[in-house]
Amino acid sequence: MNTPPIELEIRKLTDKINYYNEKYYQSHISEVSDYEFDQLLKQLEDLEQKHPKYKQPDSPTARVGGTITKDFVQVKHRYPMLSLSNTYNETEMREFDERIQKGLEGQPYSYICEMKYDGVAMSLTYENGILTQAVTRGDGEQGDDVTANIKTIKTLPLKVVGDDVPAYFEVRGEVYLPLESFEKINQEIEGENIERQIQGKKLLTPLANPRNAASGTVKMQDSSVVAKRKLACFVYDLLGENLPFQTHEESLEALKRWKFPVFHNNQKCTNIDEVLAYIKAWETKRFTLPLDTDGAVVKLNDKMQRESLGFTAKSPRWAIAYKYKAETAATILESVTYQVGRTGAVTPVANLKPVKLAGTTVKRATLHNANEIARLDLHEKDTVFVEKSGEIIPKITGVDKTKRQLFAQPIIYIKNCPECNTPLVQNDGEVAFYCPNDKSCPPQIKAKIEHFVSRKAMNIDSLGGKTIETFFDNKLIRDITDLYQLNFQRIRNLDGFKDTSTNNILKGIDASKQQPFAKVLFGLGIRYVGETVAEKLATYFGTIDAMMKASVEELAQVPEIGQKIAESLANYFAEADNVARIQALKKAGLQFENQQVVKEILSDKLAGKTFVISGTFDNYGREELAEVIEQHSGKILSGVSGKLSYLLAGKDAGSSKLDKAQKLGVAVISEAEFLEMIK
Ligand code: IVH
Repeated sequence: MNTPPIELEIRKLTDKINYYNEKYYQSHISEVSDYEFDQLLKQLEDLEQKHPKYKQPDSPTARVGGTITKDFVQVKHRYPMLSLSNTYNETEMREFDERIQKGLEGQPYSYICEMKYDGVAMSLTYENGILTQAVTRGDGEQGDDVTANIKTIKTLPLKVVGDDVPAYFEVRGEVYLPLESFEKINQEIEGENIERQIQGKKLLTPLANPRNAASGTVKMQDSSVVAKRKLACFVYDLLGENLPFQTHEESLEALKRWKFPVFHNNQKCTNIDEVLAYIKAWETKRFTLPLDTDGAVVKLNDKMQRESLGFTAKSPRWAIAYKYKAETAATILESVTYQVGRTGAVTPVANLKPVKLAGTTVKRATLHNANEIARLDLHEKDTVFVEKSGEIIPKITGVDKTKRQLFAQPIIYIKNCPECNTPLVQNDGEVAFYCPNDKSCPPQIKAKIEHFVSRKAMNIDSLGGKTIETFFDNKLIRDITDLYQLNFQRIRNLDGFKDTSTNNILKGIDASKQQPFAKVLFGLGIRYVGETVAEKLATYFGTIDAMMKASVEELAQVPEIGQKIAESLANYFAEADNVARIQALKKAGLQFENQQVVKEILSDKLAGKTFVISGTFDNYGREELAEVIEQHSGKILSGVSGKLSYLLAGKDAGSSKLDKAQKLGVAVISEAEFLEMIK
């Protein structure tokens, strides 16, 4: 069939504009005037509006935005987005190198050194060369689809061409707000605020720092506002099945060929001394870059070697981040106030005379606990040194005692809760002081609810801190259970709540009833029951009833659950209020049973057997095989060791894994042999 002429015209214009764009943003060459460029874009916009069905998937009109996204769709990552473990000094870097050498058993190796960009991690999917999806890191397993906003980044190709472009690949990178744009936006806000002050209008809040600004921008609803902010990106990873690149260096070269923005000063190093020299050189050179960086990243170059080293629970063993020491500034301590957290822990906060530090203005610093005040021997109006180490809240590292005023009084940690006046208590062996009034101390209750709705728990993102505060102040909620008693009228009656926002909140609350058991358990906010512990407990017990029936001893027998966690759980379940809360949440329809565990255990044929899976298989993907193994009561291990029962090896299984299995006498089995075992 012939392509309609109008589609051809749209295609031609699309290609032409993309070509000019690429020349300008990649090679800094303007082949046409701004005016001509804008005319072409306008022409294309008009044509697309008249013939929307011919709009091309790589249309440059996406660069100027215009898409409004109300709710970002959550997308599961095909490859999880992991984090990097950190090091802070030369010794730790040398230890990392020793671990690599040991793991590689004398093989030659090299590293690629990069900068650690301080922005928002992003996963970009390209299908048949077209950028089809951009997803935030989220919790590492799933993130938000922010494609429309990311398409506004002019240095990212919307379409990749070349004879070596795989049909499917993912690119990982860091989206950032260039320092120049950050400062410009804040200057504009300051200017606007002068006007607003004159007119008696509410003032706008300046952007706190470039990283927060980038993550806020990425999640804006209107992509044309995003386009104006001029986000940028550095890409640092290429993923996909059977890609033809053996090393990270080759992947980065391919990304460069395909016109992705790759940092120009990545460096290959063949020993740790070269790595340390790179780190040292960039400690100061990094300030010439257009973005904030907080360290260097060192990655093993060879992909097979990476595979043989594998991952820990959260990060690869083959890469590490080196964090640069934070910048310090001196300023005056104006006062100390106290914040009450979710668990009742009372944290002292230093209010400071505003001071510029690493590009942002610092007004507050955490003092951690009473011991910290004593350790610093903090006095009123002291001159203190503040440091920012990647965290948003900076910390005080020392006091300039030579500047202390003659009769300055020492800071004495408070005795009563600053919010509800209850006398504070200190638990045995802990440094923190607590407000024990967990039933009616307002900040504790609000923080508990905030924790419950947070992304990693019930994920009700239509309920932010402000809304919770309003609901609390208006006596709509006093406990997490009250969330499930809210109705349209009660919310709509409050000032500032329209039909849409009310419905969104109710929709979010309703959807949370589908959150899996582990997330609900984490959301309850039981002491020491973090995300991972909650998952372990949910998998082990399967239901809350089984868990509640367990004794401290039984709880402590769960793999990786220690005495402290077991006691905390038993104490929680021993309180009538907590049992009533669980019953109320159950009644509201929340998940208190682990659906997967209940349905998925098919047999105990592999009980006591451990497996490592390597390579590709005819009938199953690796993840699927892992699931099958667990369904038959087997366990997956991360690396080959003497303890391993079987190495399940498919096509192209890692050669170092095979060698190691052979050396240690571990049985190597094929997919067919495995299927025979579970038949
Ligand atoms: S590689 C498997 N390279 O740091 C690890 N990450 O802590 C993949 N980051 O979420 C990450 N610069 O957002 C890598 N050159 C770089 C990076 C980098 C910044 C961020 C990234 C990631 C976090 C990991």
